[in-house]
Amino acid sequence: MYNFDGIMDRMSMDAIKATPQHSLQQDCIPLWIADMDFPAAKEIQDALMQRMNIPNYGYTLCSESYYEAVISWMQRRHAWEVKRDWILTTPGVIPAMAFAVQSVVKPGEKVMIQPPVYPQFARMIQLNGAELVTNPLKLINGRYEIDFEDFALKAQDPALKLFFLCNPHNPVGRVWSRDELQRLADICLENDVIIFSDDIHHDFVYGTAQYIPIASLSAGVSEITITATAPSKTFSLASFKMGNIIIQNEELRKAYNVAINRVGCTSLDVGAIKATIAGYTHGEQWLQAVIHYLEQNNALIDSFIAARMPVVKTVALEGTYLKWLDFRALGMNNDVLESWSLAQAKVWLSEGYTFGVEGSGFKRLNMASSRSVVKEALERIERAIHAL
Ligand SMILES: Cc1ncc(COP(=O)(O)O)c(C=O)c1O
Repeated sequence: MYNFDGIMDRMSMDAIKATPQHSLQQDCIPLWIADMDFPAAKEIQDALMQRMNIPNYGYTLCSESYYEAVISWMQRRHAWEVKRDWILTTPGVIPAMAFAVQSVVKPGEKVMIQPPVYPQFARMIQLNGAELVTNPLKLINGRYEIDFEDFALKAQDPALKLFFLCNPHNPVGRVWSRDELQRLADICLENDVIIFSDDIHHDFVYGTAQYIPIASLSAGVSEITITATAPSKTFSLASFKMGNIIIQNEELRKAYNVAINRVGCTSLDVGAIKATIAGYTHGEQWLQAVIHYLEQNNALIDSFIAARMPVVKTVALEGTYLKWLDFRALGMNNDVLESWSLAQAKVWLSEGYTFGVEGSGFKRLNMASSRSVVKEALERIERAIHAL
């Protein structure tokens, strides 16, 4: 019923992913920025067409059906009972990070992250006047783990007010377990640290891994948590700029709302509203099919690398559609590794160092593309390795 093997000309759509930013990226297979090369769910296409055919695009309300769709999705797919009043909307999850810093942290206070992690975490924290504290993840036997001792030590600093969690984690692909989340939450509770949990990848979880919203652990944890969700990764709708920010604590929510109001981001794009309702109400079957396709792409990548270029190491993917690949055994520094993959392999991936120094020597491959494209990218990398 669904076919994700087709190839879309994303350059003709001005897709950021497919448009080279400098000459070395020309003629490369682009598998970097995190969106999908698949056609959107038919149900979303239809809802958008129907609305766009009505020729007036003035300010549009998030009606009750919008909130009902969000609440129902969180309940159905993630077993989390969210109340209508807890939901604020933002034009994307990156702005939601900035609002978290603005509403929780005073200039000079500190925010902790767990690198290697999505680069906008550090950017939004620093651009909004806070000091960055890192609790690097540890790579142990091919799996990333949290350094709880270091986390607990750094959380004790009275200037540390906020912790940015990424669950599932971009780029390392971990889906944090209940036990791991509980330990993090306990430390935050003990030390009055607010949690900003970026759960934008929460609909992409594989095998036995289970996504658990940290706020769902207990009412106490929910009281100290700001959860950022969005249908943008789930249904590849990123250009509509959408975020649902879930905050139980009334005081925290009010402060957060002040930050939203300060920059006047109080309404959503009509396309964002219609696509969210359609995706969360009718998109589940399409999503299941995408997840199945991604599982097969993941298996292809793992078996290809193991059989044909074992010098590259993979980490087991529990969540997200982003493969974190370890090229350190090639012995190249970041600059050389980057220009080698663009100029020799002709494959454009996200560079590991952009996720923090901890990502040096790694690359992130976005596997949400046609299988033939993913396979060709692997073959190009294989050829470039053999040519070394
Ligand atoms: C962890 C994470 N948060 C946020 C975003 C971007 O959010 P938005 O496009 O809604 O601003 C991304 C995009 O890749 C992401 O990986």
